[in-house]
Amino acid sequence: MPTAFLLMALLLAAAAASATAEAAGSLVVTHGCGMSCGGVVIPYPFGIGGGCFRKGFEIECVNNGRPVLAGTSIQVVHLSADPAESLVLLPVGWMCYNASNPSKAADFSYAETEMNKDGVYRISNTHNELVVLGCNTMAYTASGKTEGGGAAYPYAYYTGCMSYCNDSASARDGLCAGVGCCRVDIPPGLTGNYFEFHAYNHSTMMDYSPCDYAFLVDRNNYTFRRSDLLMDTNRTSPVWLDWAIRGDVLSCTQAAKTGQSACVSAHSDCVDSTNGPGYNCKCSKGYDGNAYLADGCTNIDECAHPVKYPCYGVCKDTQGSYQCTCHPGYESDDPRTEQCVPKFPLAAQISTGAIGGALVIAFTAFVIIIRKEKRKTKEFYEKNGGLTLEKAKVIKLFKKEELKPVLKISNLIGKGGFGEVYKGVVDDILVAVKKPISGNVLENKQFANKVIIQSQVIHKNIVRLIGCCLEVDTPMLVYEFISKGSLHDILHRVDNKEPLNLDVRLSIVAESAHGLAYMHSQAHTKILHGDVKPANILLDDSFVPKISDFGISRLIAIDKEHTANVIGDMTYMDPVYLQTGLLTEKSDVYSFGVVILEVISRKKATHSDNNSLVTSFLECHKEKKKATELFDKEIATTGNLELLDTLAGIAVGCLNLDVDQRPSMTDVVARLLTLNRSRMV
Ligand SMILES: *[C@@H]1O[C@H](CO)[C@@H](O)[C@H](O)[C@H]1NC(C)=O
Ligand SMILES: *[C@@H]1O[C@H](CO)[C@@H](O)[C@H](O)[C@H]1NC(C)=O
Ligand SMILES: *[C@@H]1O[C@H](CO)[C@@H](O)[C@H](O)[C@H]1NC(C)=O
Ligand SMILES: *[C@@H]1O[C@H](CO)[C@@H](O)[C@H](O)[C@H]1NC(C)=O
Ligand SMILES: *[C@@H]1O[C@H](CO)[C@@H](O)[C@H](O)[C@H]1NC(C)=O
Repeated sequence: MPTAFLLMALLLAAAAASATAEAAGSLVVTHGCGMSCGGVVIPYPFGIGGGCFRKGFEIECVNNGRPVLAGTSIQVVHLSADPAESLVLLPVGWMCYNASNPSKAADFSYAETEMNKDGVYRISNTHNELVVLGCNTMAYTASGKTEGGGAAYPYAYYTGCMSYCNDSASARDGLCAGVGCCRVDIPPGLTGNYFEFHAYNHSTMMDYSPCDYAFLVDRNNYTFRRSDLLMDTNRTSPVWLDWAIRGDVLSCTQAAKTGQSACVSAHSDCVDSTNGPGYNCKCSKGYDGNAYLADGCTNIDECAHPVKYPCYGVCKDTQGSYQCTCHPGYESDDPRTEQCVPKFPLAAQISTGAIGGALVIAFTAFVIIIRKEKRKTKEFYEKNGGLTLEKAKVIKLFKKEELKPVLKISNLIGKGGFGEVYKGVVDDILVAVKKPISGNVLENKQFANKVIIQSQVIHKNIVRLIGCCLEVDTPMLVYEFISKGSLHDILHRVDNKEPLNLDVRLSIVAESAHGLAYMHSQAHTKILHGDVKPANILLDDSFVPKISDFGISRLIAIDKEHTANVIGDMTYMDPVYLQTGLLTEKSDVYSFGVVILEVISRKKATHSDNNSLVTSFLECHKEKKKATELFDKEIATTGNLELLDTLAGIAVGCLNLDVDQRPSMTDVVARLLTLNRSRMV
């Protein structure tokens, strides 16, 4: 493990610094039995010194820090716990000839080693190969000596190859294929280093190939050179050894049975050896370290090693594993192996971006507009005396939004010079919203005061002001909705004319008078209507009249529509007022007189015909004539004529051009009351 190696090297470096007494490169013991020798890290089960190694894995640190397999001169180059491997330098087998007798081997070495006394090693068949050099020779390795068995040959394994050279130029560098050099794979199970040679007459090749060689070697390490045909017989060769926990226990199953497994670490697994009997220990997936040591296996922080443990998203280490998720808005079938891609395709992303951008702009604009609107709303509210009215707490102050649903063209029930009237439901009450044409020039104080005054006018014959909306240029007024419409409509509707008996007419006149009288009698501020006419007398389902369109309602209408000296309808207008320009309660009385005439005649008074209706009645009265033919046929029955005459008399009184002779509304009410009583009797 490169990580483990690095870590160990660091530890060693630190330890080495403190262990100055030791000779450079000599044995350095770090904490516990973690140790190294000559730069070679020695992991358990390997170890130097008593208690630090498992049986068969002892290492000696000789001379100037040369680690060797204990009891041998075999140098150790590398040791590792997982994979269970050792790299060692093994001697080369050879056979040499003497020019004095070139047909017979003068000297040789089997290169046999006593490296595997405890049988823990196997020559790695995967990492090594057998190489034979020479001209000409045949060599082989033999292994697995069968002691005293009845086998035909003394070894369990024989494997080798033949090398022949036609002449001195035959062998070629880099080519180990039977000419000067041959090589062969080896089987698993080889336990040692041992070579035998067949001797060949070397008389013709003594100058370029006096010796033959055979050796095991890291298959990635050796490349043939023609010069190697003359190489040093002392040469060693790097060979990988597989090691395993062997001995009596030959497999993981057996180890488990004994309960004495060498795999002592938590998060470790036992695996059977693939090269010979026995088993090895490995840290479980997601763990790293030495499985042969207690607590040797530790969690791997996979996120710290993105090359080994890739994650294309957000990496999060967990015990024994790691989580890898894509960033929000990204996805991947497996972010450990596949790039996270945006959930939307690029085109969609771009368009989303564009739409998003547009939205942001639109939203910003919207916010600006809303802010401006809000500021304007507040300005209007204040201009229209909102603060004063707020304090007064006399009527409801509607928000613009609350009235919005009412102000639909389908709800429009009236339209004129004053503006528009809409019918709708607000706060579960049927209302009429009067929306004046904008351009109101009222001072806020004036408006607020009028509202306060009007809000105090609560009478069953006066249309009630429920509230208003001040958040617009010209305030909108919210009234109770009066179902039947105006007296004008009831009286003069062309088609579908409703019958109106005398009782009803009398009641309408009397109660309207009540309403007007109440207005005129207001203790603090006398309210003058200024535009009394049938169109401004509304009727509910029971024909109860309600005076409307006065006070602020009129104020607003006047201010925007008419020039100051033209108030109301000329048809009903007091000629005295027209002359003086001074509106008094008697002006309303005059107008009411005209209303009475309309009610009893069911004829429309019109200014354009010099007010013929009024003049007709006045003339009759002047001439002390009965106005029988002027009365509406429906009510002008014999029994009613007297009463109608009296009623006409009251009306004429109201129309008196001498203001002082005119009765007050209270007088009118009293007279009508008397009339009604006389009728009851
Ligand atoms: C070769 O043999 C001769 C005579 O036996 C001997 O003197 C000589 O040392 C030998 N050479 C080698 C290299 O062994
Ligand atoms: C083999 O060796 C002989 C004698 O040295 C030489 O004449 C011949 O050309 C060689 N053959 C090849 C194929 O190298
Ligand atoms: C060895 O080869 C040489 C040259 O070919 C020959 O003269 C000699 O007799 C051979 N020796 C034996 C023992 O065959
Ligand atoms: C072969 O192994 C030796 C000893 O371990 C080493 O020094 C050398 O660099 C290796 N050569 C190659 C080509 O790997
Ligand atoms: C080979 O090794 C032996 C013993 O270790 C030594 O005496 C001899 O000089 C060595 N030969 C060479 C060529 O190094």
